[in-house]
Amino acid sequence: MTRPSYPVTELLGDGIGAELSTAVHRLSERLPIHLDFRPIDLTLENRRARKNAIYDEAVASVEATRVALKYPTITAEESPNQVLRKRLDLSVIHRPVTTIPGVPSNFKRELDLDIVRIATGGTYDDPGRMIGDDGAVSLRIVERKPVQEAARYAFTLGRKTHRRVTSASKYTIQKATDGLFERVTDMVAHQYPEVEHNVELFDALLAKIVMTPDKFQIVLVLNEYGDFLSDMACGLAGSLGIGASANLAFDASGVVRVALFDAAHGTAPDIAGKNLANPTAIFLALVLLLYQIGEISVGQAVKDATLDLLRRGIRTRDLGGQESTESFTKAVGDEVEKRLQG
Ligand code: NAI
Repeated sequence: MTRPSYPVTELLGDGIGAELSTAVHRLSERLPIHLDFRPIDLTLENRRARKNAIYDEAVASVEATRVALKYPTITAEESPNQVLRKRLDLSVIHRPVTTIPGVPSNFKRELDLDIVRIATGGTYDDPGRMIGDDGAVSLRIVERKPVQEAARYAFTLGRKTHRRVTSASKYTIQKATDGLFERVTDMVAHQYPEVEHNVELFDALLAKIVMTPDKFQIVLVLNEYGDFLSDMACGLAGSLGIGASANLAFDASGVVRVALFDAAHGTAPDIAGKNLANPTAIFLALVLLLYQIGEISVGQAVKDATLDLLRRGIRTRDLGGQESTESFTKAVGDEVEKRLQG
């Protein structure tokens, strides 16, 4: 039987990027589907040599394959993440954050959050300016379209996974900007009557997530709040190094047009080339990609296999284990095959 084949743009990066790409290929060979990787070289050396042309190639490839897996890249003259976000119009970030029993953390509770963040605007699009010597001002921008896209994505996720959506902002103080965000979210919520929706003030939400994490499932937030919340949640889960995210662009009817998946960590230059890199985050990014192309059971098998091994203490050294990149990848591949055969 021929395996179904899916084209995937692979955006190659720096540092541990090469080892992570090898790990992804080794794991993909064990799957009952064929991922037809189309590599684009985004290493610093090639970006310096090819300048804009390499981004043109990257954008054309992602537009053609509609899904991409990106490895970490050095931010030097420019941030490739920012360039791609702008050029591909990636307006929403979905970052799942889950505690993994056994992975060291200061937090004693279980956390299982899907953070859906509007990735444009807020306070981040305007660096601001000085007013005289002693004052400064910057603009905060909230637009209906990305809020609508993010809200539809969050509520669709809620519908598929039977989870509730919490939107959070400072709408009582930021009446225009955050008020618009909550109004648009509320309008979208009405189109999903089966999905529970609650509204929280963002500062209160932070305290509540720490005190009663089980009450929160999908959290929808504006750009800067999402930035803070993602790192706090990763810190609680003890897993800055194992976070992954989906960066999404939408068509006019609100359907995902292209999706770029990546790991939250950087290029880890201190361990590059030593077979020490933990591939968990890039595997979890691959899981989100598999979900996006509709291979839900394959994605689920990769996720369960990876997390189960971590639970059982089969881990790379950064998580206190003994495994190398290669041996952990092989263990995940073995486990995935077992699960899919079973
Ligand atoms: P980093 O995440 O690369 O490293 C921080 C620490 O975590 C290091 O000790 C590193 O060895 C460890 N670490 C990170 N990923 C790991 C993995 N998969 N397995 C085992 N250990 C891991 O952050 P840092 O040092 O601040 O940045 C290094 C470079 O990465 C910079 O040039 C930065 O611009 C870039 N970067 C790129 C990102 C991206 O492309 N998405 C995101 C963050 C940083």
